[in-house]
Amino acid sequence: MMKATAEASANIAFIKYWGRKDARLRLPYNASISMNLSGCVTTTTVEFSRDYEQDIVAEGFDKKRIITHIDRLRKLAGIQQRVHMKTKNSFPTSAGIASSASGFAALTVAAAAALGLKLSEKELTNLSRLGSGSACRSIPDGFVKWEDSFAYSLYPPEYWDLRDVLVIVKQTQKHVSSSTGHDGAATSPDFGKRLETVSGRIVRIQEALRTKNFKAFGEVTEEDCLDMHHVMQTQSPPLFYWNNTTKRIMDAVTGWRAIGLPVYFTIDAGPNVHLICEGKDEKKVMKVLQSRIWLRQRIKEIIVNKPSKGARVV
Ligand code: DP6
Repeated sequence: MMKATAEASANIAFIKYWGRKDARLRLPYNASISMNLSGCVTTTTVEFSRDYEQDIVAEGFDKKRIITHIDRLRKLAGIQQRVHMKTKNSFPTSAGIASSASGFAALTVAAAAALGLKLSEKELTNLSRLGSGSACRSIPDGFVKWEDSFAYSLYPPEYWDLRDVLVIVKQTQKHVSSSTGHDGAATSPDFGKRLETVSGRIVRIQEALRTKNFKAFGEVTEEDCLDMHHVMQTQSPPLFYWNNTTKRIMDAVTGWRAIGLPVYFTIDAGPNVHLICEGKDEKKVMKVLQSRIWLRQRIKEIIVNKPSKGARVV
């Protein structure tokens, strides 16, 4: 039977991927570094069969992009059978959390297994990248680096007990997808400056990871987030992913640090805020979040994530 199920976590990038030097191959301008998120998991089942007359993919997703990806795998396996695919996310898809990373990682691993392809982890990262760039970072375990065409694990999940307290805020409008956003990145007059400085941040974050220096780690994470959003806001057309709640949380984080709580923020292509802290401070972060009435009113959901394993067949 040509059927398999795989699970993959979404990931949060501390050094971000924004802009592609080759859009079709999804090759990034710069390296990025991320952590897999234990609380944001996609489970995908695919089955190929001679009895199927057409490809049927899960509702609510970009069918063309999914079938293009499955075609890559079918071609590799030399198999033309039609596919039925089912998928579910452990997190609300409507919450605006990017599900393309966990989605394409789970799809790649499930389809490769169902088609009997014996691929190395490196090959799986390469393939999943063609579906969605950040998906390649959801294949290896724990803390991951993506360079050029492939990604690999820097440290396993148990290496450092970090938390990503993901604050999902009420969304007012639909946002431009990151796929579209990447195309405009290089139009920002400050994109060149980002490329000049990002390699220094890669060195700094790897050093902070190696020495488990949380302050240095948090500082460079915020710096890169703000730098990416500066590019987004100055590219043409400009992209503004933050809403008022996002900005108030960013401001509050600075205040919480001033009163001795080591917590930092990072934000992707949407209004939700990822609060990064060490495991020992998780409860304190939850407490400050719940102690603010204005925040309680605007938070839709909080997902507490630990570092997690990479994609795998289940
Ligand atoms: C802002 O991986 O979603 O989250 O390659 O077009 O699928 P595609 O883009 P995607 O971009 C993610 C952008 C980001 C930063 C990051 O995760 O590094």
